[in-house]
Amino acid sequence: MKDSRANQDDLHVAIIMDGNGRWAQKRGKPRLFGHHAGARRVSEVLESCPGLGVKYLTIFAFSTENWKRTQAEVAGLMSLFRRYIEKEAHRLAGKGVRVRFIGDRVRLDQKLVQLMDDLEVLTENNDLLHLTIALNYGSRDEVARATRRLAEDVAAGRLAPQDVDEETLPRYLDTCLLPDPDLVIRTSGEARISNFLLWQSAYAEYEFIDTLWPDFTAEEFMRVVARYHQRERRFGAVPG
Ligand code: FPP
Repeated sequence: MKDSRANQDDLHVAIIMDGNGRWAQKRGKPRLFGHHAGARRVSEVLESCPGLGVKYLTIFAFSTENWKRTQAEVAGLMSLFRRYIEKEAHRLAGKGVRVRFIGDRVRLDQKLVQLMDDLEVLTENNDLLHLTIALNYGSRDEVARATRRLAEDVAAGRLAPQDVDEETLPRYLDTCLLPDPDLVIRTSGEARISNFLLWQSAYAEYEFIDTLWPDFTAEEFMRVVARYHQRERRFGAVPG
């Protein structure tokens, strides 16, 4: 979608929070121990955003592929998401955070979906920081769902095929209210995109960081964002 941000410092950072399992295994602990440690890092990174000029933070919490994990791990993650929302909802609301969820809600537990809906409503007037949590999210699934809705509009005569251009599809994506990401970070040393914001990140900068997510501190986040700003400044310095 077109970038309507008034302030170019209003960065959109998206994060693939990878490495929780390895972090726990290195300590001889179950994988869920790593996910819980990862959740604490979410809060820390989130708190640091306004001071760094990051207005949009989008985090990959659970992918459409993550259902292939053991039933125990999936159940543990779902319960972690429920508890995180229950525990953090009022704190996030009070701090000016607007929370949105992207991904397909159909397969999620109804109680979790209710909590997600409630949190979106509770924070809908906030504007300090826009936190988007990708839950049962996969880019290909998102594009398929968007295309289905677009096709329905064409079939119903609400949209003419000749009017479909590259501005059209983004209006049907889960991220339709967000600017495109400026910077995508993946932790844990893996250099893959893993079906995350494929359409939206066409022009994003990427940073692949070796640190496992539960070790990713606010200080390291600050250094990565500072590197991004430096790249931007070099761009601006190129003589025209
Ligand atoms: C990837 O690490 C991480 C996940 C699939 C879950 C991400 C979830 C959190 C950080 C929990 C908190 C989130 C919220 C929104 C409260 P991995 O398990 O694939 O790690 P590995 O590659 O080392 O096995």
